[in-house]
Amino acid sequence: MKIACLAGDGIGPEIMAEARRVLDALALENVEIFEGDVGGTGYKKHGHPLPPETLEMCKAADAVLFGAVGDPDCDNLERHLRPEQAILGLRQALTLFANLRPATMFPGLEDMTALRPEVARTIDLLIVRELNGDVYFGEKAIRTLDDGRRQGFDLMSYAEDEVRRIAHVAFRAAQGRKKKLCSVDKANVLETSQLWRDVVIEVAAEYPDVALSHMYVDNAAMQLVRDPGQFDVVVTGNLFGDILSDQASMCVGSIGLLASASLGETQTEYGTKGLYEPIHGSAPDIAGQGKANPMAMILSLAMMLRHSFGLEGQAARIETAVSRTLADGIKGADLGGSASTVEVGDAVLARL
Ligand code: IPM
Ligand code: MG
Repeated sequence: MKIACLAGDGIGPEIMAEARRVLDALALENVEIFEGDVGGTGYKKHGHPLPPETLEMCKAADAVLFGAVGDPDCDNLERHLRPEQAILGLRQALTLFANLRPATMFPGLEDMTALRPEVARTIDLLIVRELNGDVYFGEKAIRTLDDGRRQGFDLMSYAEDEVRRIAHVAFRAAQGRKKKLCSVDKANVLETSQLWRDVVIEVAAEYPDVALSHMYVDNAAMQLVRDPGQFDVVVTGNLFGDILSDQASMCVGSIGLLASASLGETQTEYGTKGLYEPIHGSAPDIAGQGKANPMAMILSLAMMLRHSFGLEGQAARIETAVSRTLADGIKGADLGGSASTVEVGDAVLARL
């Protein structure tokens, strides 16, 4: 089982170290770890946020465990050299088009959510975010118009096959859960969204057991805080999914808790090849201080074991250990507690 570990920038190395301790503790046979530079670290050491050797390592791996990228030192570089291009480049190069971002309420965190506890308690949803298209990858530039004014633009587009493949992922995910799928778009204004909606409706014919609904993204943002319990699986485009998943994280208490899996269609001898990362960023303001919550990273490891290696039992074991750690009141600064990154890691290990 070849695993590429890319710790990246900011708090990336600290949280990756805790996930690696958890992985070691499972004492799995047949694991081979490869480490690569990525993000600002990749740029500083090799002149590129996604150095060719790192990309090759990821292509050869069965799964990629990814920390975080983002470095204020690099914010003024040309866009193609900025740290974020590492994750965008990997998603594109490995055709990881399906991003699964589960959000569930952990018992013991009711006081930490931005919502009323009785509302937060109902949250058990999965955001299926498309990851290879939309304004993220369309033509983009800042150009000067004939009259001398500067204009920025980013082309939003989806081809029908791109919508169809993510819709299938979402319908299948719903079949394995409460059989409810809400497709989020902005079809009242955007043609891209109209096509999205048309194609999702076409695909729905193959899944008569799933109840499909549609919602405009502005309403979805509102409903997510008004009554999040109404959602089971949400499928949406790249940009809307980016925004709604950050919002969902605060509804369950902290962005330090949400893991994600980015999957494509490549099957290895163990499972689906994928990249696993916390949804939070590199948090440069707290980097190196031992304050970061490693739970989203550790939960990303669990998702990797489940999706890429078919080790459901080990994945569930890690998730239970994290859940018990929280229920026992061991929390980092992001959750109003005082446990350090390593102390949270120790507590999870003890409960494993
Ligand atoms: C995420 C992040 C990335 C994104 C950034 C770092 C490029 O916000 O994974 O949600 O926008 O997709
Ligand atoms: Mg984001």
